[in-house]
Amino acid sequence: MCNSKTLGENMETIKKIKKDDLNTFLKFLDFLNEGIIVIGEDKIILYVNKYAEKVLNIKEGEGKHFSDVIKNNYLYSIISHEYEKDIQEEIIIDDKKFLVKIYHIDGKKFVHLTDITPFELYKQAKKDFVANVSHELKTPIAVLKGVIETLEAEEKDKGKKKFLKIAEKRVNQMNSLINDLLIIARLESKEDKLIKTKIKLKGFVNSIFEDLNPIAEEKNVKLINNIPENFVLYADENKISILLKNLIENAIKYNKVNGLVKVKAFKEKRYSVIEVEDTGIGIPKEALPLIFERFYRVDKSRSRNIGGTGLGLSIVKHIVEAHKGKLEVESQINKGSLFRIKIPN
Ligand SMILES: Nc1ncnc2c1ncn2[C@@H]1O[C@H](COP(=O)(O)OP(=O)(O)OP(=O)(O)O)[C@@H](O)[C@H]1O
Ligand SMILES: [Mg+2]
Repeated sequence: MCNSKTLGENMETIKKIKKDDLNTFLKFLDFLNEGIIVIGEDKIILYVNKYAEKVLNIKEGEGKHFSDVIKNNYLYSIISHEYEKDIQEEIIIDDKKFLVKIYHIDGKKFVHLTDITPFELYKQAKKDFVANVSHELKTPIAVLKGVIETLEAEEKDKGKKKFLKIAEKRVNQMNSLINDLLIIARLESKEDKLIKTKIKLKGFVNSIFEDLNPIAEEKNVKLINNIPENFVLYADENKISILLKNLIENAIKYNKVNGLVKVKAFKEKRYSVIEVEDTGIGIPKEALPLIFERFYRVDKSRSRNIGGTGLGLSIVKHIVEAHKGKLEVESQINKGSLFRIKIPN
């Protein structure tokens, strides 16, 4: 794909080209598989390369007002913006997806079009592949898990039992990775819609606490539910359950022995706000922008002893975005972290 800086720099170079060279340069632009349109201050089209003519079905556009030439409504509306800020948008033209970039140089608008359909198809193929493989692995892993658990429960020999425990731990890791990948695949699928209901949050969080109590007990972490009794959240129950489980599980996993996890909720303007706060190890400042990326884990050696694959927070981010909400995090090393989600009412 085109690098915006490079094109901007190219445009600076265009200005320096001698008049004689300009025709040669414009001929070169006709060879590009990317569209270029230059519009003057008076909205008159100064230049259209061959590719842009073909894609936008423009005939002899130069010298005409752009409103007589650009027939695609969305592209027209982007070009019509009066403000001189560079713009980047994706638009559909004849079933193909294009990236449109508009640069403002010396009062002129330089419109640059790139066909990103192959890239989009590649992204979709990658998602489909991961979803299909995860789906195919789900059943064999569930069978393996069942067999290993049964063998382990019946095994008397201490040595063999130890090996079966290791196998059980690994199969559980695979199982949760596959479950996370399937959740992501579902969230990314076009068919996935929000099913919003009124959730009585206090009881809802109590039942998540019950599910996570075994891992909290291992570290003697205290779980505190400070949500008001009558607090109602209007959201997709299934997804909010996944979201809160991930945040509360992290708050326990990355906590200290005898630590605390507090969950709060309140209304603020047009949002329902939920906070999950812990007294754990904290997250370094430079890692904060990265923790929501897939497979990112702070300090891999530290995390290795703590189970997980690094998908939890990317799922959280997906769910918040699906609700058109906001996600914030504050953290202090060795003091703790606070994850805040804001869901529109
Ligand atoms: N409450 C927290 N305190 C400190 N570090 C955290 C906290 N929550 C997340 N992190 C850091 O962010 C990383 C990413 O978190 P995320 O939940 O995505 O993955 P994970 O917990 O490693 O694995 P899983 O996919 O099982 O959730 C973690 O590996 C951890 O380093
Ligand atoms: Mg996690």
